[in-house]
Amino acid sequence: MTDHYAVIGNPIAHSRSPVIHAAFAAQTGQDMSYTRLLAPLDGFETVLNQFRAEGGRGVNVTVPFKEIAWQLADHLSPRAWQAQAVNTLSFTERGIEADNTDGAGLVNDLRGNLGFSLVGKRILLMGAGGAARGVAAALLAESPLQLVIANRTVARAELLVQQFSALGQVSACDYAALSGQSFDCVINATSASLHHDTIELPQTLFSANSLAYDMMYASKPSAFMTFAAQYGATRCVDGLGMLVEQAAVAFSIWRGITPETKPVLQMLRTQLQAA
Ligand code: ATR
Repeated sequence: MTDHYAVIGNPIAHSRSPVIHAAFAAQTGQDMSYTRLLAPLDGFETVLNQFRAEGGRGVNVTVPFKEIAWQLADHLSPRAWQAQAVNTLSFTERGIEADNTDGAGLVNDLRGNLGFSLVGKRILLMGAGGAARGVAAALLAESPLQLVIANRTVARAELLVQQFSALGQVSACDYAALSGQSFDCVINATSASLHHDTIELPQTLFSANSLAYDMMYASKPSAFMTFAAQYGATRCVDGLGMLVEQAAVAFSIWRGITPETKPVLQMLRTQLQAA
C-alpha cells in the first residue's frame, strides 16, 4: 500500500519538495508518493481536508499557509507552538499533529553540512517575519554568545525578543544601529531579495571567519550574498541546504527513518546550476 503525502502552497509549481521526498523514499525503500497541491488563497482548509479524506497521511505546508495550518492543528510540538507557524502535518488517530522543522533544518545545515558551530558565536538574524520566528528558538538552543534580531520595523523584532528572551541572550535593533558591530554568522530571513530590494548594511558587519547565510536560494547569489562576499564574509551560503534538511526532519517524523541528505543536496545543487 502506497502512502500519500503532498506539499500545499500558493504558488507551488516551483516547489522542489516532491523531488527531495522522492529521493529520500528511493534511498530508504519507503513506498510513498508525494505531490504538489495548489490551494486558492482562501482555500487551504478545503484542500487539506480533501487530501486527508482521500487517505493522505500528511502534508508539508509552505507560503502563505504556515500560520493558518498552525491554527488548524489539533496537536502542536513545542517548537511548532513557539514558531506560531507549521510546515509539517501528520494525520493520525489523534487528529492533525503539527511540527515546524525549519529551525532544525537551518541548524542541521549549518552544523552538519557546513561544519559551522554556533556555540559561543555572535549571530545576527535579519528579519522579524514568519521566517525569522520559525528559526529563532533553534538558533538560541545552540548556545550562541548573543542573537541580535535586526528588522526594518524594529517593533516586530522587539516582539520576537519578548517571545524568545527566556531562551538566551537576544536583543532587537534596526539596520542603522548595526553600525560598528560585527558578527560571526549573519542570517538573512527577510523577503527583501524576493522583491529585488537590497537592505543597507554597514560594511563592517562581518568578523574574521564569518559566515553569511541567505535562507532563500536561487541559481544566482542574492544581493545579500554578493554584499557579504564583497565585505569580508569568509563563506556565503544560500538556503538550499536548509530546504533539504527541513525536508529530512519532516520525512523522519512521517516515516521514522532519517534519510541521508548530502547526495540529495548535491543533486539539487546540480539541477539549480543547470537551470
Ligand atoms: P516571511 O514569513 O517570509 O518572514 P513576512 O512575515 O512578510 O514574511 O516578513 C518579511 C520580512 O522581510 C520582514 O522582516 C520584513 O521587514 P518588515 O517587518 O520591516 O516589513 C522584511 N522585508 C521585506 N522587504 C524588505 C525590504 N525591502 N527591506 C527590509 N526588510 C524587508
